[in-house]
Order: sequence, then C-alpha cells, then structure tokens
Amino acid sequence: MNICFHSPRGLGGRMVAPPDKSITHRALMLAGLASGTSRIGNPLNTGDCISTRRCLERLGVGIREIETCEGSFGLQIEGCGLRGLREPQDLLDAGNSGTTARLLSGILAGRRMFTVLSGDDSLRARPMLRVVQPLRAMGAAIDGREHGRYLPLVFASDSGPLLSADIELEVASAQVKSALMFAALRAESTVRLGGALASRDHTERIFDHLGLPMWWRHGRLNVDPVEEVPAFQIDVPGDLSSAAFFLTAALISGGQLTVEQCGLNPTRLGFVHVLQRMGAEIRLEQCGSSGGEPSGRLHVSPATLRGVEIGGDMIPSCIDEIPLLAVVGCFANGATIVRGAGELRLKESDRLAAVARLLKSVGGAIELSEDGFTVEGPQSLYAGRVDPGGDHRIAMAAAVLGAAIPEGVAVSGFECAEVSFPDFLATFRALGGEVS
Ligand code: S3P
Repeated sequence: MNICFHSPRGLGGRMVAPPDKSITHRALMLAGLASGTSRIGNPLNTGDCISTRRCLERLGVGIREIETCEGSFGLQIEGCGLRGLREPQDLLDAGNSGTTARLLSGILAGRRMFTVLSGDDSLRARPMLRVVQPLRAMGAAIDGREHGRYLPLVFASDSGPLLSADIELEVASAQVKSALMFAALRAESTVRLGGALASRDHTERIFDHLGLPMWWRHGRLNVDPVEEVPAFQIDVPGDLSSAAFFLTAALISGGQLTVEQCGLNPTRLGFVHVLQRMGAEIRLEQCGSSGGEPSGRLHVSPATLRGVEIGGDMIPSCIDEIPLLAVVGCFANGATIVRGAGELRLKESDRLAAVARLLKSVGGAIELSEDGFTVEGPQSLYAGRVDPGGDHRIAMAAAVLGAAIPEGVAVSGFECAEVSFPDFLATFRALGGEVS
C-alpha cells in the first residue's frame, strides 16, 4: 500500500489514541493465567496484541469478544489458572511482536510441556538471550536457534521447577523485567531483580493492582510465588506512543491538538518531557485511572522549538519515540542530540539506521553514531518517497512529516502501521490531513 500524506493547513483538533499495546499484552497474559473470568475493556485488538491472543488461545485460554457495559469493545477471558496452561498442538507464533515473545517466554519457562515459540523474519532476528539466560538461571530448560540467541525457542517438557534467583538485569528492558516477574509467580521462592530496572512499569502496576506479592528492598524488586492469580476487570487507556505521532505532527505543522483518554504513566512520559524542554507547550490533566494506570488529557499548542541533548536514564522512558525526536529536531533551532540509545538498533528494525534513511529521503541531514544521532535544525525538507522497511513506527514517523512538508511524503508498505495503530489513516484525515 503506497500512500501519500500531506496537510496544506497543518494538523490539529481532538483525537483519542488507540488502546495501549503494552498494557493490553500484560492484561491478556495475566487474564490467561488467572483463575476465573476476566474482562478487558478497550483492548488493542490488532497486530501484536492479536499475536498474544492467538498464542494464549493455543495454550487453552478461552477468549471471546464482548460489548462492555458502556457499549464499547471488550474481551472476556476464561483463565486457565497459573499452572493450568495446556501443551499447544502446534508452534506459537508471536508474529512481529517482541513483547509477545519475551513476556510469553517467562510464562512458558519451567512447565512440564513442550512448546515452540517463533515469529516473523524481523522477530527471528531480534535478541532473545536476554530473557533465555536469566530463565535458565532459574532452572528452565530452554533451547533455541544459535543456543537460544534467536527464535524459534523450544521450552522442554522435562524442565525442572523454577528456582528462587537473584538476577542482575543488564539492559533496561521492560520486556525482560516482565518476563522474569511472570516466571517468578511460579518459582519455588522469592525472585530478586536488580540492575537495569528503570523501564516502563506496567507489570509492576498491574501486579500491585491484583495484590500479587511484589516489593522493593535495597533497590531490588522482589516477587514471591503465588497459588493463583485472581480474575480481574480493567479498562485499557490510550497509547501515548501512538498519540506521540500526532503530537509531533501538530508541533511541526503549527497546530493545536488535544488527545483524550490517554495513558499518563510517568514511566512513559519521557517524550513529553523532552518536548517540553524543547519549548513545546504541553499540558497534562489526569482524569482517571484503571488497573493502577493513570489516564487523562494532553493538550499541545504551537511554540518555537529549540534543540536539546538527551541520554542516560531518560532513554527508556521515550525509547519508542526517539525516531520522532529526530523528526522534531529538523524543525527546532540548534542541535538535537541523542546518546545511549543503542537499543534502537535491536527493535523491529535498526531504528537508528531507519530514521537516517527516512530523513535523507526527504532531503534532511542527520549524523548517526553507534548509539544515537545529531540533527541540526531548522532544515528545509522536500517531498520524498520513504520505504519504512516494514517497521510500523518508522512508517508513521514518515507520515507525520507529510504534515509539515508542503508537497507531502509518500510511504510504501504503510499497512505495517496496523501493528499498533489501526485507525492511523482515519485519524490523519480527521485532524485535517489528506491521504491519497
Ligand atoms: C515494551 C517495552 C519496550 C518497547 C516495546 C514495548 C513492553 O521494549 O520498546 O515497544 O511492552 O514491555 P524494551 O523493554 O525491550 O526496551
């Protein structure tokens, strides 16, 4: 699907972001492990989350689409119980979803059943040892391609039980942390996690909400085993990482934008804070919460932007939005510098290389380093044709550039955006953009 995005008058107005992908994955998995019937209101029901849903169904979890009391879309899940998953008859396909593959690894480890977990070409090239190694340290028998470096992974049926462990996380990855927290629920006794723990905390929040035993001591996260996970009901807020595309579009095209019902989890707000440091006027208003996750309204108004430098602890809180910082940097005065973001090379694509290709195809300049980039602004960009290489976030970053380049931007293979933002085209149009 080749699509041209442009917006002669800029983008702005009011929107609701699609449901949060990270929270939907966790809610689906915990509901699958729960004893009884759970309900998830407003789940993301596309791409990556459908991969999670299909894997859980193969493991014996019953999932049914329902209408919630408010008349909106929901899912009703008949959990199998923490120890009740069924050996799947075929392999589990995580599709394009790193979160599905890594979190499920924590759920599949140390069970007396044979399971093979795989994914698409992009996912089979992404590192898995970061979850396999600590799970092995807990006693799980896991094999896989190149000794477990890559999918497919095989979880052996003669695995011993999961043991107590003290694990030092080397990368600040919420996927790794969450996989180990899921595994800890079935360990013989307390699992302690230390090291790089500063990543999005959705799993901690939902554990806390469900009363699952988890606490902090001397900077380490402790999780105790439980007999069962209680069934629950939650509503999923909008995904800030998806709203970020239109926040960017409004900022670079001089529009005003309000995003309603958006997740405002502090560990996800890095992008908003960086934009504020760049001079953007963004107001946040918390209006509610569900499952321990705050949600509310974001309002952005036009402003003159200046370049900033970011790195270190800031990176995990805006990891998925860093390609957009390169885009915003083209419209800011001075240098926007990102360091310490080498993890971006290991996402659905090498996102540092991909964002450089994206900017170069619209006449932009960017200097890449091993773990970041420098963009000097302001730059004059012109119409271009972008191939996002099947990466949803790069495809949408290219589309929002079309809001600020008068002749627009053409994006090939735009259907990959379905993975996280099914209504992207309709939202682009509703905010005043043109799509052809
Ligand atoms: C996610 C965590 C992040 C993020 C991904 C979703 C999650 O990955 O990039 O889109 O839901 O836990 P890492 O935690 O591996 O950095």
